[in-house]
Amino acid sequence: MTELSAGSLAMPGTEPEGAPAETPEVAAEEVVVLDYGGQYSQLIARRVRECGVFSELLPHHVGVKEVERRRPRGVILSGGPASVYAPGAPPLDPALLQLGVPVLGICYGMQLLALALGGRVEAAEVGEFGRSELRVTEPGRLLAGLPAEQTCWMSHRDTVFEAPPGFTALAASTVSPVAALEDVARGVYGIQFHPEVVHTPYGQAILKRFLEDICGCESTWSAASIVEDQVERIRRQIGGGRVICGLSGGVDSSVAALLVHRAVGDQLTCVFVDHGLMRKGEGEQVISAFRDTFHVPLVAVDAEARFLEALRGVSEPEAKRKIIGREFIRVFDEEATRLEGARYLVQGTLYSDVIESGGGTGAATIKSHHNVGGLPDDLAFELVEPLRALFKDEVRAVGAELGLPERLVWRQPFPGPGLAIRIVGGEATRERLDTLRDADAILQDEIRGAGLYRELWQSFCVLPDIRTVGVQGDERTYGSVVVIRAVTSDDAMTADWARLPYDLLEQIASRMINEIREVNRVVLDITSKPPGTIEWE
Ligand code: XMP
Repeated sequence: MTELSAGSLAMPGTEPEGAPAETPEVAAEEVVVLDYGGQYSQLIARRVRECGVFSELLPHHVGVKEVERRRPRGVILSGGPASVYAPGAPPLDPALLQLGVPVLGICYGMQLLALALGGRVEAAEVGEFGRSELRVTEPGRLLAGLPAEQTCWMSHRDTVFEAPPGFTALAASTVSPVAALEDVARGVYGIQFHPEVVHTPYGQAILKRFLEDICGCESTWSAASIVEDQVERIRRQIGGGRVICGLSGGVDSSVAALLVHRAVGDQLTCVFVDHGLMRKGEGEQVISAFRDTFHVPLVAVDAEARFLEALRGVSEPEAKRKIIGREFIRVFDEEATRLEGARYLVQGTLYSDVIESGGGTGAATIKSHHNVGGLPDDLAFELVEPLRALFKDEVRAVGAELGLPERLVWRQPFPGPGLAIRIVGGEATRERLDTLRDADAILQDEIRGAGLYRELWQSFCVLPDIRTVGVQGDERTYGSVVVIRAVTSDDAMTADWARLPYDLLEQIASRMINEIREVNRVVLDITSKPPGTIEWE
């Protein structure tokens, strides 16, 4: 077998990333969202899916053929940062209007349509940013059945002052004389505000009207239909072949493995490498769920000694990461070699990974993942990526549909190198890992008990390699410091420190100090990201 990179595998705790090669095509019924660079473009696709219609986000310049290939029921043009008059502003491809399906422009998308079809679009004296009041003057088809006065969310300076000939202006706001418009005969619709954000209370209802009443969608996309569809696709891809999957304990690799198992049964073997850097009981949970509950063939490798040996004397964070990544690939490779004839490798690549690496939108932003090196060109496996078309919340819904335990479905992200990068400034020894594991178990227990686990993006402990003086039972102590780190975030790119209740913090601190002999001080990290990162190393 060829050498593998960390990017091709699910390290314990990490969610694997891939180098996507093609666009997913998953549903009979699809609405395409064309991305003009708006802040909320991804959210539009997610909202459409929440209405039960599969949706892909494609770059605006993808070409009408690509759109047509999907036989969409409708097309949505997103917002974008440009002015329609700016040099180099992303243009409207008029061929989109010849596809014979309804088109809905949102914000910039509406301005493009209005301009192209002969309306008057100009920069307004004042911009309209944030909450705004919408007055529906003529509900038409798009706004039928909705309140005449409603709040909406705006973010624009260019404004449509006159609808194009043949169009009906449906609504206005203080700043926008034409805040919604339609030409039913031509199948062209537009709204200046953002229906996809929560600050537009009727936004989802408007999208639903567009999808169901205007595009004629049947809205059958659901976790159950995803399972059915993916099982079918996986069977077609794998046939009678053998397939291998690195399980990490994270929701992505778990759901991917379950889907593949549902499709091809025991042709799948999962490999779970326990590097000894997991949290308390985590390895057992994964093994019990997969082996005992789901009866998935599972090779569990206890590689703790090997990893700790390799990490001996290493305190530099990047060195730790490299060593763990390297050892992980070696262990996985050894196991994979033992499984003769495995031709396929399951990867839990998500749709957001596809979009972020440019496979979906051509967007330039690529997240810098710490331990992902990408797939080597000469990979000996063919990839099976059943989550390529799914957003994280859909992966969770599919996991629940497949019966994955709640704990695994809702697990907070956990870094591939595990607790090793939470022993800060020092070596990850077995003793320190145990102290950290105990502290972490108390934290998780209390956070879950307070019903806050799902609200937090991550909550964990850090063990710096320092000791401080304390006094316990009239005796001087010289013990370890545990740091509590809890953050809220949407995507880990930015994060805020969570305002945990004081009483809860007190309870956590006192339990840690009372129950863990080595610990005599607990502190709270109140740094947001930026300027801090979520992890300390
Ligand atoms: P930072 O610390 O950069 O973390 O704010 C952002 C997110 O990435 C996770 N993280 C990692 N994940 N391998 C991983 O798989 C790593 O080496 C690693 N370092 C950080 C972190 O937990 C957070 O969710």
